[in-house]
Amino acid sequence: MEALERIRKLKSQALEDVARARSTAEAEEARIRHLGRSSGLAGMRRSIGTLPPDERREIGREVNLAVREVESALRERLAELAGAELEERLREEAVDVTLPGVPYPKGHLHPTQRIIDEVVDFFVGLGYRVAEGPEVETDYYNFTALNIPPGHPARSMQDTFFLDEGLVLRTHTSPVQVRTMLSQEPPVYVVVPGRVYRRDSDPTHTPMFHQIEGLAVDRGLSLAHLKGTLAAMARHVFGEGVGIRLRPSYFQFTEPSVELDVSCFVCGGADPDCRVCKGAGWLEMLGAGMVDPAVLEEVGYDSEEYTGFAFGMGPDRMAMVKYGIPDLRLFFEGDLRFLRQF
Ligand code: PHE
Repeated sequence: MEALERIRKLKSQALEDVARARSTAEAEEARIRHLGRSSGLAGMRRSIGTLPPDERREIGREVNLAVREVESALRERLAELAGAELEERLREEAVDVTLPGVPYPKGHLHPTQRIIDEVVDFFVGLGYRVAEGPEVETDYYNFTALNIPPGHPARSMQDTFFLDEGLVLRTHTSPVQVRTMLSQEPPVYVVVPGRVYRRDSDPTHTPMFHQIEGLAVDRGLSLAHLKGTLAAMARHVFGEGVGIRLRPSYFQFTEPSVELDVSCFVCGGADPDCRVCKGAGWLEMLGAGMVDPAVLEEVGYDSEEYTGFAFGMGPDRMAMVKYGIPDLRLFFEGDLRFLRQF
């Protein structure tokens, strides 16, 4: 029978093509070619009706068997190829997580910020709280409440940037002392980092610079507590070996007032040509003193019951000394060639 022969041929061609398919796409093409609407086997199926009745049954069964055989071969081949393709993709897209990464450029903190962090960390370790206040300050907090009344000559010593309506750019962080005391009862232990502003510009002065204020108010605080606290702070920032000395000074809002020097941490006072202390052996570090009773009374504290000490230091100045930088203005120009050195 000619028809059976043709079916066998079509089937073996189809099986050959399926076996030869190199990809799932090629296997799909083989399906369309051999089982699709215009394939030989589909054509045979459609023509069954035109055959003599006694042949229809056998031919029909043979065509169906052939189609089923090709379909199952296709299924198998597709499964094989899909598995292989998946493995290939996994191999190609594999990532070696043990390869070293691409180094990512890492920044670092500004020298002033490093000093601020060291000082603040030290005081936080002693139990102080960090407080902050506004940089645009009222005349009252910046001056009057700190015992510097209107018209007092101490006001003109700090070259103030005056704004409208009794506002100033704060000339120091001391107004935060007042704000803190007004907001809570003693005991007070705060450390106050922040930016301050004065009309000044030369190698050691910039119109904006930083201060760190400290304030402690409690029963029985004395100058000895102030001295011990600052000595420990100086050792923390500049090294175990440094000593301190207090010199008498004057601030309107402390009495007595002192300035604190730190022994030169580079030469220890031994080198007359020392680049850091210029042979003086001491470095000026900060202003401090016992909070003036008038200031305590101004915020409603009982100055018979409580005493306090306060200090204010310049972390920019401290960074200049610690890192040997001759010009303060470099700190704020944002020149990367300068900043990358730290
Ligand atoms: N506020 C003072 C200044 O800027 C420093 C200071 C702070 C002095 C606290 C004594 C107590 O010069």
